[in-house]
Amino acid sequence: MSVDSMLKAPAIAAGPLTLVHTADEAAGWWRSAVIYQVYPRSFRDLNGDGIGDLAGITAELPQLARLDVDAVWLSPFYRSPQKDAGYDVSDYCDVDPLFGTLADFDAMMAQAARLNLRVIVDLVPNHCSDQHAAFQAALGAPAGSPERDMFIFRDGRGPFGEEPPNNWESHFGGPAWTRISEPDGQPGQWYLHLFDTSQPDFNWDNQAVHDEFERVLRFWLDRGVAGFRVDVAHALVKAPGLPEWGGRADGNSCDGYPGHDAPMFGQPALHDIYRAWRRILAEYGPDRILCAEANVDPLPRLADWVRPDEMHQAFNFPYLHAGLDVHRLRGVITDSLVALDAVGAPSTWVLSNHDVVRHATRFGYDGPAPRDGDGIGTFDRQPDSVLGRKRAAAASMFMLGLPGGAYLYQGEELGLPDGIDIPDSQRQDPTFARTGGERLGRDGCRVPLPWRAAEPHTGFGSGQDPWLPQPASFAELARDVQTEQPTSHLNLYRRMLAMRRQLDLGRGSLAWLENWCSDTSLAYVNGTTLVVMNVGPDPVDLPPGHVLLRSSPESAEQYSASPETYDGGHQLGSGETVWLNLPVG
Ligand code: NOJ
Ligand code: CA
Repeated sequence: MSVDSMLKAPAIAAGPLTLVHTADEAAGWWRSAVIYQVYPRSFRDLNGDGIGDLAGITAELPQLARLDVDAVWLSPFYRSPQKDAGYDVSDYCDVDPLFGTLADFDAMMAQAARLNLRVIVDLVPNHCSDQHAAFQAALGAPAGSPERDMFIFRDGRGPFGEEPPNNWESHFGGPAWTRISEPDGQPGQWYLHLFDTSQPDFNWDNQAVHDEFERVLRFWLDRGVAGFRVDVAHALVKAPGLPEWGGRADGNSCDGYPGHDAPMFGQPALHDIYRAWRRILAEYGPDRILCAEANVDPLPRLADWVRPDEMHQAFNFPYLHAGLDVHRLRGVITDSLVALDAVGAPSTWVLSNHDVVRHATRFGYDGPAPRDGDGIGTFDRQPDSVLGRKRAAAASMFMLGLPGGAYLYQGEELGLPDGIDIPDSQRQDPTFARTGGERLGRDGCRVPLPWRAAEPHTGFGSGQDPWLPQPASFAELARDVQTEQPTSHLNLYRRMLAMRRQLDLGRGSLAWLENWCSDTSLAYVNGTTLVVMNVGPDPVDLPPGHVLLRSSPESAEQYSASPETYDGGHQLGSGETVWLNLPVG
């Protein structure tokens, strides 16, 4: 049932409104925050080994403060063999030497505090690395031992135990089970891994696992982090008996929804885990937060994750997957706000992250990207990069006008495209190898950032080649080049973020402006701001109002101090978004 039809607000000059959400007055910095995702290995390489590091983040944090974000979320920098770019953790309470030391982490935290930026870190509780001490101990201990019980070991099926214990598949391709050799050298039990072979799943039926993660939470909270982004938060608990299941283990944000009945996702016992964690965070005051990476469907189920005593936020992947389909977008926005309002939680919005093709590339296609967005290669149909960047600006501007929190992925403020010309020999995502190259994986969105066009590797680092090659276009998109161009993507982001803060849009309300919603355009009012996006091929007439910001300014003058005044009759081009100030009276 749609609430659109239930809540009618009075008409403004531009026509009737359908109210969906009223302004949020509850306390909590995160409720309206813009959180910037730093992917450490690709952010900035200060020691010249070709891989980003914590010192590089510290050095460039002022750029993020200048962008006017509230917080940064760091993907994993913990000790790890890097089989899944750090989502395979071998020590949760230390920094991998690749990225630096705990002292470097503390220096980064001090710099963030000086700049008034909060820092959220990634917590990976579903699985660890096969090099983690607990897993090594499990391998050395007999079947049925407490060491094995930290993980999900089972005997195989078939006369010799040569078949996996059930039919579950790994998210990265192939079976979700790997058979070990027992300490005596004989083929032995199997262990479950929803992701790569090198990522054994923990057994969350074991209290010792709970105790260990509570220790990890406190370790980072004591070091001053503002909270945790919880990796595959919907997967920790598995259904009793590990029943067979026919679907693919789509537990990741790069795919669609897992089925409602998936025995490895969304089990009821998860919620008590997050309640316990919330109590721990509360001991540190009201400002530490938990954000779920939980791919659950339908949206009201996602609301279960952010009830008042559970997590603070959850990623809104339905929003990301709605693309530029205005009917889907309207449905997701309405359903999100209504479902989350019912439990008193803010929504979040997101367009890109380290698991999906960047939105400047996705929107360079009419219709879906090739390979279902599972990476794009040299021999695939190529995107229109100019169109993609233009539409990306429009989509970001549409998103940043919405009430709630927003997540940005590093480089989207530069309008970066995916890296497409990556030689097979350099592809590192385990998906590529586990599917025999059929799925290219996520390397394309993880290419190191361009900072300064004239420097080696466009300023990512002055030593060895970056761990993934940068496309040629990165030079003209480098941050220093865009800083000097008044109408660049970067300067648009700076203006959007400053204006969003000034107008308090993150705390605002949302009503659809019906006369400007069509099959190819969407318009909403948030407070006194009107946001219109046109994804159709033809220009649309603008409602009356003062133009605050356009996603495709023709010239620098359109950013001039005195806003243009429109009384109707002006147009919004194809693939553009505008923020207008409603005429008063
Ligand atoms: C989700 C992360 O975002 C992704 O990068 C990772 O591969 C999986 N979880 C497994 O940890
Ligand atoms: Ca480095």
